[in-house]
Amino acid sequence: MVLPENMPMVSHTRIGLIERYREFMPVTEKTPIISLMEGSTPLIRADRLAGAISPNLTIYLKYEGLNPTGSFKDRGMTMAISKAVEEGSKAVMCASTGNTSASAAAYSARAGIDCIVLIPKGNIALGKLSQSMIHGAKVIQIEGNFDEALTMVRKVTDNYPVTLVNSLNPYRIEGQKSGAFEICDALGTAPDFHAIPVGNAGNITAYWKGYKEYFAHGKIKRLPKMIGFQAAGSAPIVHGHPIAQPETIATAIRIGNPASWKSAEAARDESGGLIDMVTDEEILEAYKMLASMEGVFCEPASAAPVAGVRKLASAGFFKEPATVVCVLTGHGLKDPDMAIKMASKPITVPANMDALMKVLGY
Ligand SMILES: Cc1ncc(COP(=O)(O)O)c(C=O)c1O
Repeated sequence: MVLPENMPMVSHTRIGLIERYREFMPVTEKTPIISLMEGSTPLIRADRLAGAISPNLTIYLKYEGLNPTGSFKDRGMTMAISKAVEEGSKAVMCASTGNTSASAAAYSARAGIDCIVLIPKGNIALGKLSQSMIHGAKVIQIEGNFDEALTMVRKVTDNYPVTLVNSLNPYRIEGQKSGAFEICDALGTAPDFHAIPVGNAGNITAYWKGYKEYFAHGKIKRLPKMIGFQAAGSAPIVHGHPIAQPETIATAIRIGNPASWKSAEAARDESGGLIDMVTDEEILEAYKMLASMEGVFCEPASAAPVAGVRKLASAGFFKEPATVVCVLTGHGLKDPDMAIKMASKPITVPANMDALMKVLGY
C-alpha cells in the first residue's frame, strides 16, 4: 500500500515515555529505543466512586490498563529492553505472575530478541498467558509459586548470557517512575495520597523515585504519602515476614517474598504513608464498584488500592479533604474468567419479539 505523502506513518498524538521524559531517563543518542508508544495513560476523575467512599476525597484513577500490553509493566519494559539491546543482549528472562511476561514477550518480539518466561502453573490469568504465547516467548510453567520462579530465574541470569527483566533490573524502575511524572503533569501538583497495589514492590519503589525526582527538579512543591495495599493472604510486608504459600484471587500480587521489600518500606516511611492489606472480598467489591460506577474495567489486583482507600475511609482515616490517586495497574480483560464469575449471567431467550419483550418488562 502506498500512503499519500502527507499521511503520517506513526501516531503523533502519543509518544513513548522515553521520548516524553528523555531528560529523566538513562538513555543516550546511541540507545535504540524499543517502544510501543507506552505511557501517557489517562488520569480519570472518579466522582461517583468518591461519593460512595468518602465525602472528603477527590479520587483519580491512573488507568494503566491502557498501556500497549494492558498493564503498567510496559513502562519499565521499554527501558529494560532498550538497554538490553544497547548492551548487545540477545535474550531476556523473567519470572512473572503474568503481566511482566506479557510485556517482556511483546517488547522482545518488537526488538527481535528471545524471551524466556517462568510462570506459576495454574495461577496466571488467561489473557496474560495468551499474550506471552502469541508473542513467541518460550513459556515455562513451574509447579511452584512466583517466589520460587524468581529464585530460579536469578540463578539462570546470574550465570548465563540472558538479561533479567524483572523489576530487580534497575532500568525497569527508571521507566516505571514516569507514571509519577504523568500524574504530577496532569494535576499540576502531587496528590495528597498515592494508592497502589504491592506485589513484588517494584512499582511503589518506582513511583516514589519518580515523585522524589520531580520534587528535586522543582516540578512539584510537595510529595504525596504513599499508601500501598497487599492482599490479605499475601501480605508479607504487613506481617513483617515472608509468606511461604501466598494466596489470593488477585493473582498478580500473589507474592510472598517481595524482591523490593526494603525499598517499599522506604517509600512508606519516607513519605509518611502506610502499607496495609485488604481481603479478597474487599478487592472484589472495589473491582465491581469501579466497573459499575465508573465504567473502568481493571483486573482484580488493580482494585486493591481502591479497596484499601475504602477501608481506610470507613475507619475515619481521611479527616481532611484530600486528593487520592489510585493506580489501576492492569486491564480487566486480562482476567475475563473473573469478570464472568462476578457479573450476572446473560439471559437466553428464543429469537422472537414476545420472548424479548417479556424479559425487558415493557
Ligand atoms: C496488575 C498488577 N498489579 C500490581 C502488581 C504489583 O506490582 P509490583 O510487583 O511492582 O509490586 C503487578 C505485578 O505483577 C500486576 O501485574
